[in-house]
Amino acid sequence: MNMMKTMTAIALVATSLATTRAGEATLTIDAEQPAAKSSPMLYGLMTEEINHCYDGGLYAELVQNRAFLDNAKEPAHWLLVQGNGAVATMALDPAQPLNEHLTTSLRLDVSEASQAHPAGIANSGYWGIPVHPHTRYRASFYAKAEPGMSGPVTVSIQSEDGEKVYAKGTVSGLTPEWKHYELTLKTGKAEPTVKARYVLTVTQPGTAWFDLVSLFPPTWNNQPNGFRKDLMQMLVDLKPAFLRFPGGNYLEGDTVQQRFDWKKTLGPIDERPGHQGPWGYRSTDGLGLLEFLEWCEDMKAEPVLAVYAGYSLKGAHIDPGADLTPYVQDALDEIEYVSGPVTSKWGARRAQDGHPKPFKLHYIEIGNEDWFDKSLSYDGRFAQFYDAIKEAHPELKCISSVGSEQPKEKRVHSRQPDFIDEHYYRSAADFMNDAAHFDHYSRTGPDIFVGEWAAYETPKPPWETSLKDYPATPDMKAALGDAVWMTSMERNSDIVKMQCYAPLFVNENPGAYQWRPDMIGYNALHSYGSPSYYAFRMFSRNHGDEILKATMDGAPVACSITKDSQHGLIFVKLVNTQPKAQPLKLDIQGVRRLKSTATAITLTAAPDEYNSLNSPTHVAPVTRKLSNVKPVFDYTLPANSITVLKLGIR
Ligand code: AHR
Repeated sequence: MNMMKTMTAIALVATSLATTRAGEATLTIDAEQPAAKSSPMLYGLMTEEINHCYDGGLYAELVQNRAFLDNAKEPAHWLLVQGNGAVATMALDPAQPLNEHLTTSLRLDVSEASQAHPAGIANSGYWGIPVHPHTRYRASFYAKAEPGMSGPVTVSIQSEDGEKVYAKGTVSGLTPEWKHYELTLKTGKAEPTVKARYVLTVTQPGTAWFDLVSLFPPTWNNQPNGFRKDLMQMLVDLKPAFLRFPGGNYLEGDTVQQRFDWKKTLGPIDERPGHQGPWGYRSTDGLGLLEFLEWCEDMKAEPVLAVYAGYSLKGAHIDPGADLTPYVQDALDEIEYVSGPVTSKWGARRAQDGHPKPFKLHYIEIGNEDWFDKSLSYDGRFAQFYDAIKEAHPELKCISSVGSEQPKEKRVHSRQPDFIDEHYYRSAADFMNDAAHFDHYSRTGPDIFVGEWAAYETPKPPWETSLKDYPATPDMKAALGDAVWMTSMERNSDIVKMQCYAPLFVNENPGAYQWRPDMIGYNALHSYGSPSYYAFRMFSRNHGDEILKATMDGAPVACSITKDSQHGLIFVKLVNTQPKAQPLKLDIQGVRRLKSTATAITLTAAPDEYNSLNSPTHVAPVTRKLSNVKPVFDYTLPANSITVLKLGIR
């Protein structure tokens, strides 16, 4: 690879962005010699439990607080169903736990109830229970009752006021011992709505206890304990090469005890106690380590596994040395769970959990944002993890969570990380002004993983902005900033080998989210992609394996050009952040002929336009055919636009 050539080309692009001049604007592409190889791992996803991404999001469970552990004082999100002649009380009952993991249950004391006037409990879901017409829901719960009370229990999906029943079933045979009950609830013709609740009622006086009360709609690939279909489809459509999980702050937890303790997220869901997350709510851990891995598998993506590295958000750290050894061992066990053979201890556990086949694993991130550790212990902690991981698995690439955007003293010096993870939450304008950011990076240092980045369009950064004043997802201006930033990463994907936008998801209900902007918005029923989602999709689905040298002359247009050497395709990405159209001459040198028809994909809108639940595709890419395409041709970029031209070489 000729590095000097790459650097020259990149510098020229950067210069032209800063110095617009009158006259014809030209993009000259050298299609003869690739400047460098582009990373096949460039486009991936980052995920953690924030904004009700899993519970109330991708994890399809519809019952909020299904194990009654969210609040030690009261059964949050549960209401009593009584009145009209039915009288009952409900309370948490830690004296009647389901098992050692689910350490409380809900006790229902019914003093008056009848067929005509049942009494029971109702769950309001994650801001509503979604009613879809002609749909089969998987309902289940554990229950027991005092002697003499055997049921039946009626299980239903009803309107919020109880007037309308969308689906209903019954189970009977309650005993004084805990038993698991399962049934299918089928809706008929119905208007989709979230104004519904999930209800369990009895028709006789007595006492019953409930736990792990669950309701699932149809899931992706019909997997039990699975994922919400519409959200998975949106992710699959991005064709991500990897998934970085489980965080983010969610990996670290506020305290060491509240870290993502992966061993507690395995096995049947009635053995998962869940834990307090760092974003103000408890996680069920229904989406545990195995589900993360299956999620990767479903998307044909590789895991980028972040392991807890001995630092938690409120400042606690574990000193390198003997104190850290158990955590290092825990990471080695985790690696074995993911990728070890079934003959290994943790590989056997994975097989027992239902997945004998080892998962592909190449990347391990050690911690998250360890520059926050004021004790400066990360260098030592990283070294201890690195040495142990490399000794057991020399093939694994170790990622430092501190990148070169952080002060020197925070970085790792004692080892050479394979990758460093850099995070960039910047204003759209900052991204636009820093289009040459990666052009100047050394080609001899560690590879770069931009493990979190996003443009914000608000006056203040996400962690300072009052969330309620803005739509949860970003507008077109942010998408333009994102796209400029992506051209910089893609143009330099010989060293920026992986990148992922963050956060991925947001449940838009008031009180459900802690961070904006986010790529994909939803409520219990509907979802949509922001302009940033579409910008990312345009980039991630259209790129080649070679970076082509290009010179943009006379226009403040950011660009990145790659070639798919196998299929003879050239992908030209162009971002016009100006409020006026930009005519451009494309001069593709080094090809004799191009296919005369090509494809243009364009995302364009006024900077302050955005998508929403009510208007999900207001800003969306438009694909059209171009004809009469030649090695030198004219193309006009619309104002405020992101364009991908897909040209075929003949
Ligand atoms: O993406 C939101 C948060 O931003 C992540 O949890 C953390 O890593 C970063 O500070």
